[in-house]
Amino acid sequence: MAASGVNAEALVAENVTVRYAGVTALDDASLRVEPGAIVGLIGPNGAGKTTLINAITGVVRPTSGTIALGTKRLDRLPAHRVARAGIARTYQNVRLFARLDVADNVRAGAFARSGTLSDSEIVTLLERTGTTERDLRRRAGALPYGEQRRLEVARALAARPATLLLDEPAAGMNPAETIVLGRTIASVASSGVGILLVEHDMSLVAAICTSVVVLNFGRVIATGTPQEIARDPAVIEAYLGT
Ligand SMILES: Nc1ncnc2c1ncn2[C@@H]1O[C@H](COP(=O)(O)OP(=O)(O)OP(=O)(O)O)[C@@H](O)[C@H]1O
Ligand SMILES: [Mg+2]
Repeated sequence: MAASGVNAEALVAENVTVRYAGVTALDDASLRVEPGAIVGLIGPNGAGKTTLINAITGVVRPTSGTIALGTKRLDRLPAHRVARAGIARTYQNVRLFARLDVADNVRAGAFARSGTLSDSEIVTLLERTGTTERDLRRRAGALPYGEQRRLEVARALAARPATLLLDEPAAGMNPAETIVLGRTIASVASSGVGILLVEHDMSLVAAICTSVVVLNFGRVIATGTPQEIARDPAVIEAYLGT
């Protein structure tokens, strides 16, 4: 199975604004995710991080701005066409098909590229996520929480994305699970997949991100390496604290 995507090109969001009735959730935000890069997206609650993922994946339509994967414009496509173009995601709140088994949840990820997966390919994908679950026929809803999160990553990888968007994948994980997750993400990136990582766990961000974009009230207030971000006064004031 090819490790990486249909399209080894950068995901570029330029000047993206998303307004809901009365709320500017994202305000002229730009970022770039190169193939193989891990870009952290951080900021306080309500800063617009999930909104940016929703805009990239076609779940919400930007009020203005452009989103492209290489030369392909994504910002007017419906979600299923964005997925087919090479963008996969996980959700802040786990969204598995709880009544389907583990194998069928992973297979669902391959539907985005009209593909099918053998059981051995499914096992390979699960192993990449560091899962300890080996029963492909177990109902997804019956898995422990950490396993559900890893299964979501496996489902996203089944789409063989060019770019993978992870919305707080370590939320609710213990430190040991978070370290395994970090290794998974780094290994996926080293196969050429660009990763956008929304995460509150700053030690994970510092450990694996090549660059970090900081949002506050929908605006990008800083972009830099994890080290640069950690000593940026505006970031400390808005988010990191002292
Ligand atoms: N469907 C919606 N309708 C109206 N307002 C929304 C909607 N979705 C999000 N918002 C608002 O947009 C802003 C950005 O929300 P968003 O969920 O993107 O933040 P976030 O950075 O992901 O926060 P968190 O860290 O809590 O997940 C918030 O003010 C939120 O209340
Ligand atoms: Mg969010």
